[in-house]
Amino acid sequence: MKVLVTGVTGQLGFDVARVLKEKNVEVFAANRNDFSLTDYRKAQEVMRKFKPDVIIHAAAYTAVDKAEEEKELAFKVNGEGTRNLAKIAKELDSKFVYISTDYVFPGEGDNFYATTDKTAPLNVYGASKLMGEEAVREILEKYFIVRISWVFGVNGKNFVKTMLRLGKEREELRVVSDQVGSPTYTYDLAKLLSNMITTTKYGIYHATNEGVCSWAEFAEEIFKLSNIKTKIIPIVSEEYPTPAKRPKNSRLDKISLDENGFNRLPHWKDALKRYLEEIEL
Ligand SMILES: NC(=O)c1ccc[n+]([C@@H]2O[C@H](COP(=O)([O-])OP(=O)(O)OC[C@H]3O[C@@H](n4cnc5c(N)ncnc54)[C@H](OP(=O)(O)O)[C@@H]3O)[C@@H](O)[C@H]2O)c1
Repeated sequence: MKVLVTGVTGQLGFDVARVLKEKNVEVFAANRNDFSLTDYRKAQEVMRKFKPDVIIHAAAYTAVDKAEEEKELAFKVNGEGTRNLAKIAKELDSKFVYISTDYVFPGEGDNFYATTDKTAPLNVYGASKLMGEEAVREILEKYFIVRISWVFGVNGKNFVKTMLRLGKEREELRVVSDQVGSPTYTYDLAKLLSNMITTTKYGIYHATNEGVCSWAEFAEEIFKLSNIKTKIIPIVSEEYPTPAKRPKNSRLDKISLDENGFNRLPHWKDALKRYLEEIEL
């Protein structure tokens, strides 16, 4: 099996390429120099040459707040860029994995969102990722859309690394406690994806680590496991205004994983513990 992975300089793409190589899968680890997502011809040229059986599209414009002022670019990369790759996957008859986000939902109430629930993004980034989903659904049949949230991986910036840095600098830290969701460890997700692509169980999935928490509870656990004494002061979202509005409820139900015989990811506390060990090495 030949797999082309986009975004390998990012958190998820890096781990997906790593896990596939560990499994001796032939991988084309594509970065921006191989092709930009917005350069259809170049992407087509590279893919026609490699002829992937599977494309795992982990690259994206991910600057959530900046996207509010760079709307055009976010839509170009996440919407049109994904459409480009989907068209190429169609031409080459490759399976396609599109990584999406909890931000496609409005985050109301406190129920777990089903894969079939109505989408209604609150911010530009979420709308641009939804545009990518729509292109995939429109063009392809052999696709997996995998929605994830609160990502942390060894390669790149994330909430865990930010907390570890701030924990060394501050005695107190105000962290939002009214946004609830589930962290996703890229290594655990990469293992699931490496399994998923060997099947034909196409469709939409939610695949975060198990368990839910608020950002404040996530920070508490990071500090507990790292023996950092900084005091967390829980605050509400209104006390921490950001350019992009965030959903308060990011609970995603994983029933589609169960129904299709895939193992759910381990609990986020277990994932966090392994991640902290990994980044300490
Ligand atoms: N981070 C989260 O909390 C989160 C939550 C939900 C869903 N997701 C989704 O999960 C996936 C992986 O996220 P991540 O955190 O691993 O992202 P990341 O660390 O920000 O990495 C993004 C990757 O996309 C590449 N990229 C961006 N624009 C590109 C372009 N025009 N052409 C080619 N490559 C481009 C980047 O390349 P450069 O290094 O060259 O810039 C980088 O490799 C994304 O689809 C994201 O939308 C993320």
